[in-house]
Amino acid sequence: MVGGQERFDVLSRCLLNLYPWKERMNIDISLLFYFSHPNENKALNIPISSLKTTLQNELDSTRELISIISDPTKYGCRYESTSFEDLIISLANQSILCYLSSHGNSLDNTIKTIQNENSLCFVLGSQYDLTEEQEERLSNEGAITISVGEKEYLASHVITIICYYLSKNL
Ligand SMILES: C[S@@+](CC[C@H](N)C(=O)[O-])C[C@H]1O[C@@H](n2cnc3c(N)ncnc32)[C@H](O)[C@@H]1O
Repeated sequence: MVGGQERFDVLSRCLLNLYPWKERMNIDISLLFYFSHPNENKALNIPISSLKTTLQNELDSTRELISIISDPTKYGCRYESTSFEDLIISLANQSILCYLSSHGNSLDNTIKTIQNENSLCFVLGSQYDLTEEQEERLSNEGAITISVGEKEYLASHVITIICYYLSKNL
């Protein structure tokens, strides 16, 4: 998820919506934030298995995320200073990149292409969409652009839709 100095509630809701899928699907799941503000340019990769509390509501996820962001080492995570370009190149070497955009190919049509891959990395904006330059970087690294519908949804809801589809097709 790509964001900057924006709204913490958006990030916290994404964590809350991703959390239950670690039990529902037998796969490793991480939430990677890329803080793209020019004063930041850093990534934080949070394996869902590293969380220390059960997340049942937004209060739980907000508390947990404040704790992780304040001291990631307690969760076995660390901030990594990196440009967006280097991060995307590194992720593309490890996973199939899937860029989530309302302008992409329908999920129904793309799910069969991605469902048998060993490692998938879904890239999405937080409160704002990615910049044109960031979209170009993704395209250069061969990202598949996937849409879950023509309307613009909250990032957290897009996460739920993607996980639901994956759980039905894995
Ligand atoms: C809240 S949206 C960003 C702002 C949004 N474009 C707007 O106009 O309000 C957060 C992110 O969710 C993803 N997203 C939203 N709607 C989507 C859709 N229909 N299909 C795929 N991804 C979507 C995109 O990655 C987007 O950057």
